[in-house]
Amino acid sequence: MPRKLVVGNWKMNGSLAANEALLGAIHAQLGAGSAAVSVAVAPPLVYVPQVSQWLAAHGSALALAVQDVSNQSVGAYTGDVAAVMAAEFGVTYAIVGHSERRKYQAEDDARIAQKAVAAQAAGLTAIVCLGETLEQRDAGAALQVVHAQLAAVLKHVDLDLTRLVVAYEPVWAIGTGRTATPEQAQEIHAAIRAQLRAQSPQAAEQTPLLYGGSMNAGNAAELLAQADIDGGLIGGAALKAPDFMAIVQAAE
Ligand code: G3H
Repeated sequence: MPRKLVVGNWKMNGSLAANEALLGAIHAQLGAGSAAVSVAVAPPLVYVPQVSQWLAAHGSALALAVQDVSNQSVGAYTGDVAAVMAAEFGVTYAIVGHSERRKYQAEDDARIAQKAVAAQAAGLTAIVCLGETLEQRDAGAALQVVHAQLAAVLKHVDLDLTRLVVAYEPVWAIGTGRTATPEQAQEIHAAIRAQLRAQSPQAAEQTPLLYGGSMNAGNAAELLAQADIDGGLIGGAALKAPDFMAIVQAAE
């Protein structure tokens, strides 16, 4: 896959009708897709069959992602969905460790590492989200926090670095309209790349590193021009096709 990747995380937004309209508008602009950039959308789980069927019926170049997966593969885990189940619907990527799940579902680093491995075991590529809070940044601890979050995933013996995407999402920039400056984001991305390189120099060069946090049509080009920013994990701007596609074009 190309190192460049743009993923629209729809979070808990959408409806059958709204999804169809959004897919249609994205598909109309994306066409046969781009050799340079992979593009994916992550609808709420209940809409995965709808989106999967829509993409197949339209021969779309869009890939499908899920916003979370269980750390377990089967069994009595009410409300959970296993990665192998998502894989049956043509899902390519599984986002794990998003800060909203760390915050609202109390997911910790160990659980997130298990989810990344479970996703990969089902043949999916894991998009592991990392990021510091505003308090941590103000305390000068951003690099250490992100390093520790990534280390918790990398130490898992079963992790496959060739099917890993890392998304840096400073918590203070998510949904706030406040974006990290390109320099702030690049500093963290370069540190993430160095940490991956220490584990596998070859894999580190192929690993897409995404920025997330109020990325939009206006600021995407500047962020994506940074050496270690390979794409975006887009929230709010992914719900409007023109904005989302402007970010995709900026990544090309
Ligand atoms: O997963 C996406 C990120 O949380 C970014 O969300 O673009 O609405 O700030 P946002």
